[in-house]
Amino acid sequence: MKALIAVLPGDGIGPEVTREGVRALQAVAQRNGHEFTLVEAPFGGAAIDASGDPLPQATLELCLKSDAILLGAIGGPKWSAPDAKVRPEAGLLRLRKELGVYANLRPVAVHPALRSSSTIRPEILVGVDLVFVRELTGGIYFGAKTRDATTATDLCSYSVMEVERVTRVAARLAQARRRKLTSIDKSNVLETSRLWREVVTRVMQAEFPDVAVEHALVDSAAMHLIRRPADFDVIVTENMFGDILTDEASMLAGSLGVSPSASLGDGKRGLYEPIHGSAPDIAGRGIANPVGTILSAALLLRHSLGLESEACEIEAAVYRALDAGLRTADIASADVDGGRSVSTSAAGDVILAELARA
Ligand code: IPM
Ligand code: MG
Repeated sequence: MKALIAVLPGDGIGPEVTREGVRALQAVAQRNGHEFTLVEAPFGGAAIDASGDPLPQATLELCLKSDAILLGAIGGPKWSAPDAKVRPEAGLLRLRKELGVYANLRPVAVHPALRSSSTIRPEILVGVDLVFVRELTGGIYFGAKTRDATTATDLCSYSVMEVERVTRVAARLAQARRRKLTSIDKSNVLETSRLWREVVTRVMQAEFPDVAVEHALVDSAAMHLIRRPADFDVIVTENMFGDILTDEASMLAGSLGVSPSASLGDGKRGLYEPIHGSAPDIAGRGIANPVGTILSAALLLRHSLGLESEACEIEAAVYRALDAGLRTADIASADVDGGRSVSTSAAGDVILAELARA
């Protein structure tokens, strides 16, 4: 098949990990006779430096006409001054909004080889296989903001329609998995959460009676996520709770560096990015873990291009490489290869070699 894929490397380790994601896509295309046109465009801090805008018009237009977008990471101290007029993060939020990608899928599956890399006791991690569906284009991220000399406000608002559509995405996913949905809110305090719970309850009863639903408060859910993570299957939650809880959940998998994400809307076009940030502290050193980006490329093949078996090829190659002892610095451990780790590009080489063996 033919596909146009926009590639937005962004800042910090973004370009380093994106390069490996692109190589994986090219390798899959070559093996399976697909024609992927990969077009790079400036985004984030790099775009602010070049043109003053974190999401230049040309980049947005490229994304809008693409079948999918692969993104690295954005941001860094250079653009984070408290009085900064324009921030890389604003470009990312605008891109998500313009693309209409309201459902952010963040799977967390603990690969057995990485159990010992997690800070959580290995026996707690057995059987962990969950997916967050984070609402991505509403809530406090997008509400009106005010600031004067003594006070600041951020408005959190949700409409029925916004909750309904993300609930449906989560519910359909649950139907294809273990038929269990946990909805997380703060309905003992927040009005938006009371609306959230009401809408989730109604949609699930009316449209997905075959899926078991439980509601949890965000504080206790944060606790249960590390106490009994294997009990969760699909989790749906609002934008900011999802932001926080998915960083927490990624630690189950051993490192922020191995978690991918897919942001989807009503059509097939999606935005794919590792959940980690630009990691300015290690940028340019070639030691970042490319696995989160490579697995995001697999999600791109699955969700935007409908190439399920190609997605599985990449995932299997990553898992075989990890089983065989592939470790970047973030997941190095004394019991594997004496704690030695490989560079970002060497990790990409190992995964491509596994892909070629499939
Ligand atoms: C994420 C990131 C972003 C978010 C930032 C960079 C705006 O933390 O994708 O989780 O908060 O959504
Ligand atoms: Mg985040």
